[in-house]
Amino acid sequence: MTYDETTLAQLTADAADIVGRYPVARSALLPMLHLVQSVDGYVSPDGIQFCADTLGLTAAEVSAVATFYTQYKRRPNGEYQVGVCTNTLCAVMGGDRIWEELSEHVGVGHDETTEDGSVTLERLECNAACDYAPVMMVNWEFFDNQTPESAKDVVDRLRAGEDVAPTRGPAKVCTFKEVSRVLAGFEDGRADEDQGPGAPTLAGLEAARAATAAAAAADSGRTEAQQ
Ligand code: FES
Repeated sequence: MTYDETTLAQLTADAADIVGRYPVARSALLPMLHLVQSVDGYVSPDGIQFCADTLGLTAAEVSAVATFYTQYKRRPNGEYQVGVCTNTLCAVMGGDRIWEELSEHVGVGHDETTEDGSVTLERLECNAACDYAPVMMVNWEFFDNQTPESAKDVVDRLRAGEDVAPTRGPAKVCTFKEVSRVLAGFEDGRADEDQGPGAPTLAGLEAARAATAAAAAADSGRTEAQQ
């Protein structure tokens, strides 16, 4: 491994914290993979070996897991993982156009990274955010109701080094390394900055409640008529 002494000491301390959360060391593999991504910016060969040595696994076993999940990157990733949802609803609401224009704008295709290392672009499957379609995600933060222009503006501002706020909070998008550390289970104290579900999401709940109340009233009316 090529980690310097300081990095290796920090990784070892963080790994001990992660492993301590589980009764069996190998159960800690998923957060461990996020941890090495938070240091290297991807799951590097060194990161795989570190996970294997720490958890008593083979490098092949660690690689098998790392290649299964798209959240684990096997090549140096951009500082910002920009995903455009092109699943059915987002696609018909404009997601396909956002994808085409954004891809042309930054000059890379699916799972490719810009030359300056700032952005990795990807097509996303449904993010269960269809009520805000079309959506884009940056490092897994939501950007709702996007247009090609708004999506390009977000990416341009990120590449210019500006702080950019996702639609539902928090105050600014973290870098890929920062968010990887949070996913490894090391909180950054910003979880409460999110705004929670908005009106479009709650509309379904309210409609269901109204339908349930109407059905109950109808039932009660029928019972009274029968008496
Ligand atoms: S189809 Fe895009 S979030 Fe569901």
